[in-house]
Amino acid sequence: MAQIKIQTPDDWHLHFRDGDMLNETVPATARCFNRAIVMPNLVPPITNAKMIEEYRKRILAARPEGSKFEPLMTLYLTNETTREDIILAKEVGTVAAKLYPAGATTNSDAAVKSLEPIFPIFEEMQKQGMLLLIHGEVTDDHVDIFDREKEFIDRHLTRIVTTFPELKIVFEHITTKDAVDFVVSSNDNVAATITPQHLLLNRNDMLVGGIRPHNYCLPVLKRNIHQQALRKVVATGNKKFFLGTDSAPHEKDMKESACGCAGCYSAWSAIELYTHVFDELDALDKLEGFASHYGADFYGLPRNEGTITLVKEDWTIPEQIILPNGNPIVPFFAGQNCTWKLID
Ligand code: NCD
Ligand code: ZN
Repeated sequence: MAQIKIQTPDDWHLHFRDGDMLNETVPATARCFNRAIVMPNLVPPITNAKMIEEYRKRILAARPEGSKFEPLMTLYLTNETTREDIILAKEVGTVAAKLYPAGATTNSDAAVKSLEPIFPIFEEMQKQGMLLLIHGEVTDDHVDIFDREKEFIDRHLTRIVTTFPELKIVFEHITTKDAVDFVVSSNDNVAATITPQHLLLNRNDMLVGGIRPHNYCLPVLKRNIHQQALRKVVATGNKKFFLGTDSAPHEKDMKESACGCAGCYSAWSAIELYTHVFDELDALDKLEGFASHYGADFYGLPRNEGTITLVKEDWTIPEQIILPNGNPIVPFFAGQNCTWKLID
């Protein structure tokens, strides 16, 4: 049977949530990833060093017995964030701060309403060596949802990158050819994460034959040419593009609703689905770089010790998972076939 062994990977973008949900999400990620960049969009958001330290402790307490899994913490930027907040967050080991344009996605209402005023914060981050993680979408009502990423590049990202050439920036969960081209042509301090859903699907998978709420995430799935651009760039093994699942759990009722939440819960199948995609692309030799090397290198962290092994074997992703609170959640790609399986 075909097998692939890669150095232990990391997840450079996910949502663990909080409370008893951690008993579901942390083990799901720790089963194969050694580290993860933990998004701060809780309610209330994680906006200072004290909240970061407390949240980290809650995550560590939810690790399975004997697990060495390490959460990498992030700070949620607002228009009230001060230079002092950056310095204190850095002191407690925070590796990055997250920029959400206010209203762009789940729990982002308290985030950044106006970019210009937080440029001094970017300057402090550049000085402290703290990475800037960007949800790159404009939020103006008149801008079509499918154009919001490109518009963000043109209106804001280009300026941030030129103003802060030494600031390491991760353009998170990119979805368009425009984003791929922008990252490829930017300096080496600009990189991007890519999710399994944006490699596997395009907007037809969300809208043709009925609305499929479990494929709805933000930034929203785009047209096929954009999916193809993402697939093409990961198959080249470009080191500016690395794994970030954006695993983002929402209970079944919150997704299957008249106004459903954005986010795909992929933690139980993400590494397998990435492998499935790289296999389809005939690029399995590029999986290890994407999953286990480029992210750590970009963050300036050591690569992991140890390995994981996947075998080529069909399995069906479960239709649902019962959360610790008793409520069901539908995992990403539920009921569908995956051609690679993680083995111990
Ligand atoms: C994320 C969430 O649910 O927190 N949702 C999503 O669709 N990706 C937020 C985010 O990363 O945009
Ligand atoms: Zn996210």
